[in-house]
Amino acid sequence: MKSNEEPDMPVTGIMRVGEVAIRVFDLEESRQHYDKRMGLIETHQGDDDKVYYKCPDEHDLYSLVLRKADQPGIDYVAFKTARDSDLDDFAERLRAFDIEVEHVPANTYPASGRRIKFNLPSGHEIHVYAEKEQNGNGMPLRNPGTIPDEGYIRGFRTVRLDHCLLGGTDIDANAKIMMEVFGFTMSEKLVAHENEMSLALFLTTSNKPHDIAFVLQPEGNKFHHVSFLLDSVNDLYHAADLIGKYNIAVDVAPNRHGVTRGATIYFFDPSGNRNEVFTGGYVHYPDTPTLVWDTTELGKATFSQDNTVRPSFLEVLT
Ligand SMILES: [Fe+2]
Repeated sequence: MKSNEEPDMPVTGIMRVGEVAIRVFDLEESRQHYDKRMGLIETHQGDDDKVYYKCPDEHDLYSLVLRKADQPGIDYVAFKTARDSDLDDFAERLRAFDIEVEHVPANTYPASGRRIKFNLPSGHEIHVYAEKEQNGNGMPLRNPGTIPDEGYIRGFRTVRLDHCLLGGTDIDANAKIMMEVFGFTMSEKLVAHENEMSLALFLTTSNKPHDIAFVLQPEGNKFHHVSFLLDSVNDLYHAADLIGKYNIAVDVAPNRHGVTRGATIYFFDPSGNRNEVFTGGYVHYPDTPTLVWDTTELGKATFSQDNTVRPSFLEVLT
């Protein structure tokens, strides 16, 4: 297995969301949606009712796992960290929070190095790993040029997996763990104007406005959406045209979030899992102050081009 060499640079800790695993009813229907329509690349099918995909500009072998199941929703989110030794440091810090940590041997998950695995207070299963086989992004590593061979970028022209939003209880406790154990910073939060209760928390471990976010829900372990980056607003409109052409169920047509300032479309896969494609948003640094929205501006915080609260966006989760 070609593994990622330990980077000789001052990056420590979590680099990004490396993998999201979601449940779908039907693998063929899902293949049509994620591969043929959205343009993700199927890398392989496991012998375990799972299909693995990547986006065109990702080097790692896969970033999205679909598992055939009776219920849609999320199985787990996996973060990729810079160094193998980070895994032991994180496990130690999680124990200080009384969180049980499972050590998973290499290759339990395909093409993946060892992992640690645990559940957040909201019930969501989280993995962290440092190594995964890489098979490139369709361009050579020396004199790569700027675009891969024709045909590599298809459908919605997704660039990469970007972030996900999880719904659950105890989101303040989730955020505390992500910040104190893994070094995330809080880029933005949405609070109730009457009592400052946290309603949605946006956390980043990079220059992105968020890598993961949590939204308060009455039930734990819920899935709001997985999001894929596009290059431009032109590509966002191209995706919107294909969504219309193929009668994909739309939740929110093109708009711009107040939170993160990303231009966005929300739609559903054939199993009812929400997907997002987005582009833009600001650059975050660790010293950027946390931005706070309250519910007096809920419409603008969510969809800033019409300042309209959409109940389906807030209430439909898998
Ligand atoms: Fe999003």
